[in-house]
Amino acid sequence: MKSRVSVILMTMAMMLLGVQCAFAAASDKPNVKILATGGTIAGSAASDTATTGYKAGALGIDVLINAVPEVKNYANVSGEQICSIDSKDMTNDIWLKLSKRCNELLSRGDVNGIVITHGTDTLEETAYFLNLTVKSNKPVVITGAMRPATAISADGPMNLLNAVRVAASPKAVGHGVLVVLNDQINGARDVTKTNTTSVDTFKTPELGALGYVNDGVPEIYRDSTRIHTAKTEFDVSNLSELPYVKVIYGTANDDSLFVDAAIKAGVKGIIYAGTGNGSVHKNAEAALAKATAAGIVVVRSSRVGTGSVIPAEQSYIDEHFIDGDSLNPQKARILLQLALTKTHDLKAIQDMFHKY
Ligand code: SIN
Repeated sequence: MKSRVSVILMTMAMMLLGVQCAFAAASDKPNVKILATGGTIAGSAASDTATTGYKAGALGIDVLINAVPEVKNYANVSGEQICSIDSKDMTNDIWLKLSKRCNELLSRGDVNGIVITHGTDTLEETAYFLNLTVKSNKPVVITGAMRPATAISADGPMNLLNAVRVAASPKAVGHGVLVVLNDQINGARDVTKTNTTSVDTFKTPELGALGYVNDGVPEIYRDSTRIHTAKTEFDVSNLSELPYVKVIYGTANDDSLFVDAAIKAGVKGIIYAGTGNGSVHKNAEAALAKATAAGIVVVRSSRVGTGSVIPAEQSYIDEHFIDGDSLNPQKARILLQLALTKTHDLKAIQDMFHKY
């Protein structure tokens, strides 16, 4: 009898210890907040073979987290819905809301990292905006999916799991905003979407990925040398809007139509996505020179996709065009928007294009 009582007591003690250990394990895990914005990762299609023609952003964050309970093995996760959009419809307002929310969360001692779920179409733009405006070294990881959540072999669940693994990893601290899809870790500045439909779409052309998620283990091998996150000069905490900057795409047979329209519409900046080394068609160049004379900042970028835009023609220097360095046009637009919140000095803005 005595030994039966002691067995019961011992069992109860072990159960109690087990519960305590489980709690200890839970509190030992990093706390990762998942901010959801919509996209294909939250997309729902009419059939499990449909990979187009679905509704992006249809599923809430709790559905996504519950579909991948394994995330809880790596972090204490909780979700928050920022918006539910197809990312082609991304706005300055959502960027500002997202950046401010990241900054609030990351300033707290009980948040170790953030994962953002996002549509892939403008994912690289949001990543770069946050890379310039989040004031923390803690991991911020953006992920998405090319196939809707309802598809056979949907890529979203593994991408979400890997994003949480990276956000929970001390190895991800201090590398700027990271883009994690298809087992690859890319840096926000240089990553771009390279394929319209393939799951292997996010690449850093020529410069290469920062790392991989190797069978569930994040490894980071290199860094961009450009300044990001906690070290930038940009502060959106008191901003409620961003300067109006448009991208104009250069082609053969170009004219001044869009540049004239942009001047008339009151833009503060123009990114000219030129041919080759940011070359500007002579018809557009005359109009862009009028733009700079009117105080609009003009940046030469390139539609080529790789390489840097460097000063080439004396006329571009005389007309005060800024070189967009190696940023693609959509990212040059973001840097110019933020630059114009700080200064209108052309030399200072040119320096920013060599720094960020
Ligand atoms: C979107 O960008 O929201 C739709 C496309 C995608 O997520 O792949």
